[in-house]
Amino acid sequence: MVAKSSNLALFIIVVWLLFCTTASYLIFPPSSFNNSERHALIQSGWWSHDSINISNHCYWYGIVCDHAGSVVEIAGWDFNINSKSLQLQSLNLTAFPNLVSLYLSQLGLTGSIPKEIGTLKKLSYLDLSCNNLDGKLPPTLSNLTQLVEFDVSFNALGGTIPSSFGHHWESLILLYLHFNQIEGPIPLELGNLKSLEVLYLSDNSLTGTIPSTLGLLEKLTILDLVSNQIEGHIPVEIANLKQLQILNLSSNSLSGQIPLELGNLKRLEELYLSNNSLAGTIPYTLGNLQQLQILNLSSNSLSGQIPLEIGALASLQQLNIDFNQINGSIPLEFQNLIMLTTLNLSHNMISGVIPPKLFQLTKLASLHLSNNQLAGNIPSEIGIPDSLCDVNLSYNKLEGLIPFPILNCGTFGEADLSNNLLSGNIPSKIGNVVKFDISHNLHSGSVPFLFITEGSYTPGNKLFLTSLDLSYNNFTGTLPIELADIPHINLSFNSFECPQAFKGFHAESLIGNTPKCNVTSFVQVQKTKSPKNLIVIALPVTCCFLLIIFVGIFCYIRRTKKVKFEQCSEKNGDLFSIWNYDGKIAFEDIIQATHDFDIRYCIGTGGYGSVYRAQLPSGKIVALKKLHQRESQNPSFDRSFRNEVKMLSQIRHRNIVKLHGFCLHNRCMFLVYEYMERGSLFYALSIDDEAKELTWSKRVHIISGTANALAYMHHDCSPPIVHRDVTSNNILLNSELHAVVSDFGTARLLDPDSSNQTLQVGTYGYLAPELAYTMRVTEKCDVYSFGVVALETLMGMHPKELILSLLDSCHNKNIMVKDLLDSRIRIPLCQRDTEAIVHVLKLALACLRSNPKSRPSMQQVAYELSTSKQSLPLPFAEITVHQLIA
Ligand SMILES: *[C@@H]1O[C@H](CO)[C@@H](O)[C@H](O)[C@H]1NC(C)=O
Ligand SMILES: *[C@@H]1O[C@H](CO)[C@@H](O)[C@H](O)[C@H]1NC(C)=O
Ligand SMILES: *[C@@H]1O[C@H](CO)[C@@H](O)[C@H](O)[C@H]1NC(C)=O
Ligand SMILES: *[C@@H]1O[C@H](CO)[C@@H](O)[C@H](O)[C@H]1NC(C)=O
Ligand SMILES: *[C@@H]1O[C@H](CO)[C@@H](O)[C@H](O)[C@H]1NC(C)=O
Ligand SMILES: *[C@@H]1O[C@H](CO)[C@@H](O)[C@H](O)[C@H]1NC(C)=O
Ligand SMILES: *[C@@H]1O[C@H](CO)[C@@H](O)[C@H](O)[C@H]1NC(C)=O
Ligand SMILES: *[C@@H]1O[C@H](CO)[C@@H](O)[C@H](O)[C@H]1NC(C)=O
Ligand SMILES: *[C@@H]1O[C@H](CO)[C@@H](O)[C@H](O)[C@H]1NC(C)=O
Repeated sequence: MVAKSSNLALFIIVVWLLFCTTASYLIFPPSSFNNSERHALIQSGWWSHDSINISNHCYWYGIVCDHAGSVVEIAGWDFNINSKSLQLQSLNLTAFPNLVSLYLSQLGLTGSIPKEIGTLKKLSYLDLSCNNLDGKLPPTLSNLTQLVEFDVSFNALGGTIPSSFGHHWESLILLYLHFNQIEGPIPLELGNLKSLEVLYLSDNSLTGTIPSTLGLLEKLTILDLVSNQIEGHIPVEIANLKQLQILNLSSNSLSGQIPLELGNLKRLEELYLSNNSLAGTIPYTLGNLQQLQILNLSSNSLSGQIPLEIGALASLQQLNIDFNQINGSIPLEFQNLIMLTTLNLSHNMISGVIPPKLFQLTKLASLHLSNNQLAGNIPSEIGIPDSLCDVNLSYNKLEGLIPFPILNCGTFGEADLSNNLLSGNIPSKIGNVVKFDISHNLHSGSVPFLFITEGSYTPGNKLFLTSLDLSYNNFTGTLPIELADIPHINLSFNSFECPQAFKGFHAESLIGNTPKCNVTSFVQVQKTKSPKNLIVIALPVTCCFLLIIFVGIFCYIRRTKKVKFEQCSEKNGDLFSIWNYDGKIAFEDIIQATHDFDIRYCIGTGGYGSVYRAQLPSGKIVALKKLHQRESQNPSFDRSFRNEVKMLSQIRHRNIVKLHGFCLHNRCMFLVYEYMERGSLFYALSIDDEAKELTWSKRVHIISGTANALAYMHHDCSPPIVHRDVTSNNILLNSELHAVVSDFGTARLLDPDSSNQTLQVGTYGYLAPELAYTMRVTEKCDVYSFGVVALETLMGMHPKELILSLLDSCHNKNIMVKDLLDSRIRIPLCQRDTEAIVHVLKLALACLRSNPKSRPSMQQVAYELSTSKQSLPLPFAEITVHQLIA
């Protein structure tokens, strides 16, 4: 009976297997298992074992097949970006005769583009952008006659642009070669690419002239040749590009005049010719460009007057003509530029007065007229537009009173009125200014108390002003004490009453001497003001010092008094236990591998023990954390050791360090872990060479791995586990820079019935602020520490006090995201990196909120990090921290 039923079961299984095999053949005809394609994919080593185990490669990540089962698309974004550097050559391209799309952007690909790429006869979309490819563009690329998009931007490709491209790429619409090291001239033959709409050649080393044949590209909408070494004239044929919307020729060596014919480019929206050697006058025909929004002619040798016709550009938002030799006056017609936000005419020879109606342009935000010969008053009758935030009128011959408020913008402005002939008292209301410079003028009288906004003064208000320069005037009297809070104040070369005028001022604010008064001698008096600062500096220094001494003594003792290891009764299962390990570990092997925990094998010393590296007879390497005998007498060390065993034996997660086993005996206490080759995240960030290896995508990967581990502990464990000591030191990296959370000595189960009150543990600099006044441990304490670690990973160092400024809406308006990032690695240029960084930063800032309740949960953070990033609202370089705080 038993035999019969098992036979029946066998029969059913066989039938089922047969059915499945047939069914899969019906769904995927045999040709779908194109062995040469499959072989080439496996051979590349780019796909992980998980996907390789699915028998049909058409179902692997990033692979799309046609009906006949032949690969038509390979898309790189699903590869494991954490694997070691991928070589483009490892993919045998000749095996994919039907490939239409090859997207391998931002994978850290190295090597050169193989010439075999020319065999992909059907290829239409090629994207190899944002990698580290070098070598030359192989001429065989021109065999790809079906190409529609060709993008190799942001690599290190050299050589020249093969002229044969122009003969074969008749369908090409997008050509992106920017940010490489391509040399030589732009081939005339590019003029044959009749379908071309977008041509980006910027940031290379191209030489020669702009070929007039480019004028044949009738469909071209964007032409970008910025930052090359192109010389000669701008060919008039460019004016035939009737569809052109953006013409960007900045930072080359172009000479000659700007062709009058450019006025025919009726669809032009942005024209950049800055940083060249263009001469002659500004063509009046530019006034025809009714769609023009940006006109940048700065840093050339243009002369003559500004044509009145420029005032007819009804869409114009930005006008930069700075650093030229323009003379004449500012046309009154500029009052018609109602869309204008930026006007920069500085460093010219412009004379006359500032047209009063310029201040009626309601969108004007930035006005730079410095280094000219402007005279007369600063117009004040009408008042300043609400939007104006940035005014520089320095180095002119302006006279009379300063109008007030000089700035009136909602955010924080800067005003530089220095080096003029301005006189009289300064207004008591200056608007929302952070930097105010009226040095080198003829002001006299006493300095009024500077109100920020009309009428109301609150102590927080006046801190807007961070820099005030009153030097080289003839101010008299004493100073209002409220000014003493301004961090940078220059009072030198005035006629203040000394020393009464300076009572209460910080010595470092008083740069230089006034003629009547020796400020240097005054400084001595001020020294007593800073004991508070002294403590802030001295305390950590002392602590560090003590720590160093402590570690030093400790190492000395270890070295001189080598403790002979006493064998514990190892065979007793409870004392020595190994699990979670796919091999055999014997107690003796560990003792042997470390020569009784010899100092030679010690790779680190932590809070309550040392970590050793042990190579087992099988060749496998494990890490051992050993509690020293002396410390094992200490009940709290002992407790945390046992705690770690308890925690780690309950949880398993790919981002939590694997505990293989332990030995717990009062004479021999050690834990056996998986070995993480690269050590801690803190270590990796502190060594320049290691930090350079941590690319943006790897850092984002480390942060999301950490988030996954914490989300698992908080939300998938019952009761939840709180780590309580999340720091960059407790995040370990393996050879592939995969991150795991370690050090569970202080971790705690959150018992829903108890109050969870506990002694404070954790590391200074990572502790949530509420722990200063409450002993209550919640998951949100880990969330805060995670926020610090995420910030530290992007910045390359601990953010320290900067955290406060980042969260303070007064300061974070002036902090650019790009300036926060670790400067040891290249600023992120590729979209995927910039979006991911902004996404991580936004979450990190949310985790740092001072109110624990308003911090997100780790589950939310991990989920957010795993979802696709939103595209950025602004160019990356323009995003401030303030914009990331919801
Ligand atoms: C498939 O997966 C198993 C484990 O699940 C692994 O042992 C085997 O090596 C994998 N096969 C391939 C071809 O990678
Ligand atoms: C690449 O693939 C082609 C076609 O399947 C094959 O003939 C050739 O031997 C392969 N080359 C290498 C280096 O594997
Ligand atoms: C399989 O690949 C080879 C090239 O290696 C190609 O000649 C053949 O046509 C492909 N088979 C199918 C069914 O697409
Ligand atoms: C591919 O391009 C190379 C170099 O341009 C050329 O010599 C070769 O004949 C081309 N092959 C085909 C099949 O067109
Ligand atoms: C050139 O034009 C592009 C618009 O396509 C713009 O993004 C870029 O910033 C410009 N470069 C410079 C240097 O102005
Ligand atoms: C101007 O162009 C030169 C090279 O021609 C470049 O080195 C420099 O950085 C450019 N300046 C600006 C402000 O773009
Ligand atoms: C205009 O050109 C100047 C000088 O090259 C540059 O500093 C400025 O950023 C440019 N403005 C824009 C909007 O591209
Ligand atoms: C500064 O002002 C005082 C009186 O207010 C005047 O006597 C003195 O001449 C002035 N000095 C200069 C250099 O203008
Ligand atoms: C200012 O005072 C300091 C210290 O009292 C003295 O050393 C210095 O020579 C004085 N400078 C002038 C310009 O009088």
